[in-house]
Amino acid sequence: MLTNKVLENLPFSIRRRLEPYIEAVQVMTETSNPKVLRAMAPSGIRGLILQRGKQGVPTKMPSHHETHFDWTYPNDQPEMRELYTRAKEQQWNGEDLPWDIDVDPENPEVPIIPPEFMSYDELRGMGIKLTELEQHRLNASVGAWMLSQFLHGEQGALFAAAQVTEAVQFFDGKLYGSTQVVDEGRHVEVFHRYLDTKLNKLYQINDNLFVIIDALIQDSRWDLKFLGMQIMVEGLALGAFGTLYQMTKEPLLKELLKKVIQDEARHVHYGVIALRDHFQNELSESEQREREDWAFEVALLMRNRFLSYEVYEEWFEHKITRKQWAHMVSHSPGFEIFRQVMFQRLVPNLREIGLLSDRIKPHYERVGLMQYFDGRSADHLSGDELIAELDAA
Ligand SMILES: [Fe+2]
Ligand SMILES: [Fe+2]
Repeated sequence: MLTNKVLENLPFSIRRRLEPYIEAVQVMTETSNPKVLRAMAPSGIRGLILQRGKQGVPTKMPSHHETHFDWTYPNDQPEMRELYTRAKEQQWNGEDLPWDIDVDPENPEVPIIPPEFMSYDELRGMGIKLTELEQHRLNASVGAWMLSQFLHGEQGALFAAAQVTEAVQFFDGKLYGSTQVVDEGRHVEVFHRYLDTKLNKLYQINDNLFVIIDALIQDSRWDLKFLGMQIMVEGLALGAFGTLYQMTKEPLLKELLKKVIQDEARHVHYGVIALRDHFQNELSESEQREREDWAFEVALLMRNRFLSYEVYEEWFEHKITRKQWAHMVSHSPGFEIFRQVMFQRLVPNLREIGLLSDRIKPHYERVGLMQYFDGRSADHLSGDELIAELDAA
């Protein structure tokens, strides 16, 4: 690509400053669907170019959805009503987690994420030699980065859950949604407390995650909010939480994740039942295509661009390029597993809601995600079954 050639010949300091912008343009022009481009471009500019999530001031996003009232209070969705009952019975208090456990993120005996998460050999090849202590510290940074992104995602989920509770037309969905709002509030509480009191560190929101949250919070269409939050972000989070649950040796974090995973399993289940009929029966062919392309675009953003750049900026910005960092991270053994497993939960749900048509399948095939096609979707997998599966693996 011409831009890469031009970049390679520029002095390092200029190249380092230009790289994020070139990358932003590449991300925004990846889609071939003009409707998706139109819907995502303003969020892309706010997130990738203006970096609105990193200004150190509150971010304001206008909402454009309609609030749907129903004064007849119908019992219209038995499966959602059942989820509502289950959600009320399974509430828990974040204060009851074992907060008295001492956490030292740099202790190699009890790592937050496993040491093989980063490829230290490749870093050495780029001229960066880290002592053992520095390696533990870098590892702790990546763990804190990951949990910070979980926390920012939870804040997005809290507001998105409130928005869809207003916007959906199913009354049983609104009742269920009220429990999800409480769940997400609790998730913000526990992840923030863990980062604040145990890791003493909070990274800023990743620009790509910001783009996704910005796009779905401002979209007026309720089903796009659902698709973005309940299926994509929550589906990926469920995979990510599950991998971290399996990988971490830190007992408080393990317990925290176990509780959160059980809540998230309900949230994704809700997303699947809300969208299944809607996508199959209510949409025109071009609306269906737009959602398919939108979902694939978001999947790519999370697969290819969610690469701890905030850790790079803190540690190595003056030593290696973003591109070198991206190569190292995306080829490190831990991250590779992490990224793959994130999609293991998402892909079956996309199939279930009808967004993996024969037209789009080759795109998923190309990026290696079709291997998860036959997995169980969230409406056939309770939180307890999910935890049992993770414990057995
Ligand atoms: Fe959550
Ligand atoms: Fe959630």
